[in-house]
Amino acid sequence: MPDPQLLLAARVQAALSAAFGPSYADTDPVIRPSQFADLQANVALPLAKKLGRRPRDVAEEIVANLDTAGVVSDVQVSGPGFVNLTLSDAWIAAEAQRALEDERLAVPAADKPQKVVVEYSSPNVAKEMHVGHLRTTIVGDAIARILAFLGHDVVRDNHVGDWGTPFGMLIEHLLDLGEDAAARGDSSVSDLTEFYQAARQKFEGDAEFADRSRRRVVALQAGDAETLRLWQVLVDVSKEYFNAVYGRLGVTLGDDDIKGESYYNDLLAPTARELEDKGIAVISEGALCAFPPGFTGREGEPLPVIIRKSDGGYNYSTTDLATIRYRVDTEHVDRMVYVVGAPQSLHFQMVFAVSRMAGWLNGEVEAEHAQIGNVLGTDGKILRTRAGGTVKLSELLDEAVERAGAVFDEIQHDEPFDDATRAAIVRDVGMGAVKYADLSVARDSEYIFDFDRMISFNGKTGPYLQYAAARIRSIFRKGGLVPEDATGPIVLGHPAERALALELLGFGAVLKQAGDTAEPHRLASYVYAVADAYTTFYENCPVLKAPDEPTKASRLALCAATLRTLVTGLDLLGVPTPERM
Ligand code: ARG
Repeated sequence: MPDPQLLLAARVQAALSAAFGPSYADTDPVIRPSQFADLQANVALPLAKKLGRRPRDVAEEIVANLDTAGVVSDVQVSGPGFVNLTLSDAWIAAEAQRALEDERLAVPAADKPQKVVVEYSSPNVAKEMHVGHLRTTIVGDAIARILAFLGHDVVRDNHVGDWGTPFGMLIEHLLDLGEDAAARGDSSVSDLTEFYQAARQKFEGDAEFADRSRRRVVALQAGDAETLRLWQVLVDVSKEYFNAVYGRLGVTLGDDDIKGESYYNDLLAPTARELEDKGIAVISEGALCAFPPGFTGREGEPLPVIIRKSDGGYNYSTTDLATIRYRVDTEHVDRMVYVVGAPQSLHFQMVFAVSRMAGWLNGEVEAEHAQIGNVLGTDGKILRTRAGGTVKLSELLDEAVERAGAVFDEIQHDEPFDDATRAAIVRDVGMGAVKYADLSVARDSEYIFDFDRMISFNGKTGPYLQYAAARIRSIFRKGGLVPEDATGPIVLGHPAERALALELLGFGAVLKQAGDTAEPHRLASYVYAVADAYTTFYENCPVLKAPDEPTKASRLALCAATLRTLVTGLDLLGVPTPERM
């Protein structure tokens, strides 16, 4: 559907061109929301300066040349030279009708579909996911869903940390426990936190163990078959755990999406060589380093990206460089979105800078770090357990469901639920609460993990939005109708009907923006605004008891369009919408 803002921008530009000459056809018409109309064009003010004329005169001239046909019902010059624009009810109704009749709610597909890698979640093997990974997982999944809906070719990429020096100690520890412990699902292995910490403790306290571990790293890097087999045991245990978490969260990541650090192992040496051949990487104090311009340390000294350490080992950065090179040369991607915590910002800036020097990234292929802010506890500090440890994700999710159950049982339901139905709804509510809370805050801001706030059925929460959708469904049930049969026609009488329909028309523009900036919180806010407009509509406009049949048909159609917008929007955020609540 044409976003009203874009449509009016085009009309005002045409007026500028007609009034002041074709060179003004591309001038930004400065369309903004208006207090007195639907939108206003503010271009007359900057333009007047340029033309050496009075802003009001410029505004009048724009109005005189404006083609309002079919779209604008009223246009007024106000204040110093604002052009206030009111959309015609008939146009809004027709557009809402078009959305209703369209499978995609008339959301246009991207003009230029791209191949986009969205790298997200990326937990570490043999380590429990923490609440930071929860956020990269949820936000990344929403970004992937939104971009795919817009018609991009999305490659979901779970860049798990499955390589590097810790694997020496982890493998040795596994051998000490006995390999069959993993097969038995023994908690000393399957409890990843315990497993990792036990290995770490031995590594620090036991010289013989540390020695074995170091030799094991060398064997792993040399590709020793037996060592790789043991490594795979650890990877498999972890994958099972990751998949369990993804399954609970309803995250669209599977085994096929895993391309961990190990995947790029064979590409590290050629990547280093290419950087050296291109003169980008040089030997400095025995290590192979690149010094991207503009990155300096405290004393103003150039900061290195270490490509190969003096002992011959490669780094985290080398893997990321090899990954970018691979994605450009082999996967031919257009865009890479890295959904990773903000603390890694400098790392990515430097890796991207080196990739630009190498020509892997350029105007054609771009990479961006979609930064994720820290998750804080209600005390404003990094979220920890009461004992001060890292919060286990699975326990956090258990608690979310448990609390959702308690809140759910407190509210009045139209109908009783059997145990299984209740359990399924409560699961959706718990996950929806956690996910929406995470998504409704700008991804790069810190956010406070607060169960009480996120599980409420009031306010800007997942449960409120799920409930809004369920309430619309219940109207149809009560009327003995199904949303699919509500075909309108949509006619706008009451201001609340008009406001709701206008809100629905914003879906496409919001999705485009959320996709362009990799910012799902824009969609989260939009879905809330739709629910809000619906509430006002619902309070003012009886649906099943509408005064006449045409009004009833129109209102049911508005309900159906709202329901589909909510369900689609929430689905793109990865928030499930139970049929009944
Ligand atoms: N595994 C890392 C961690 O848990 C995140 C990986 C981020 N992605 C990357 N390409 N470096 O912190």
